[in-house]
Amino acid sequence: MKKRLLVINGPNLDLLGIRERELYGVKTLEQIEEELRRMAESSDIELDFFQSNSESEIIEKIHKAYGRVNCIIINPAAFTHTSVAIRDALTAVKIPTIEVHLSNLYQREEFRHYSYIAPVAVGQITGFGHFSYVIAFYAARAIMDGII
Ligand code: DQA
Repeated sequence: MKKRLLVINGPNLDLLGIRERELYGVKTLEQIEEELRRMAESSDIELDFFQSNSESEIIEKIHKAYGRVNCIIINPAAFTHTSVAIRDALTAVKIPTIEVHLSNLYQREEFRHYSYIAPVAVGQITGFGHFSYVIAFYAARAIMDGII
C-alpha cells in the first residue's frame, strides 16, 4: 500500500518568499510544495501538503491524520514555542513526526530556543532553509520504510 505523508506548515509560512528573506530564503511555500511533490511522486508516496495560520485548524488536521497517515513533517512556525495543544495532539495520534525549521533556531532569539514539539518528535531539522524540508522528506521516507 502507498505510504501517506502529511506536511503541516504553521502561521506566516504562507508568506515565504516575501517574509524576512534573509532568514527564510526566497522560495515560496508553493515552490517548496512542488519540490516535495516531485520527490513524493518518484518515491510512490501520497503527499498531503497543508498550511494554516490557525492553531485549531492544525490540531484538527493532526486529529484527522489518526489511522490514515504514516508520517508527519511539521514546521509549527511560531507555535513551536507556544503550543502545548499541538504537542498533545501529536502525542495523542502517535504518528512519527519530524520537526522542521528553515532558520537555525539556536542562532536566534532565546525564546526560539525552546520547542514544545521537539520532545515528542523523532527529530528536529533546523537551519537548512528550504532544504530542511528535503532532508525531512528523506528522513520521513526512511521511517516509513522501517530503516530508522
Ligand atoms: C520557523 C522559526 C520560528 O521561530 C518562526 O516563528 C517561524 C519560522 C522557521 O522555519 O525557521 O515562523 O519555524
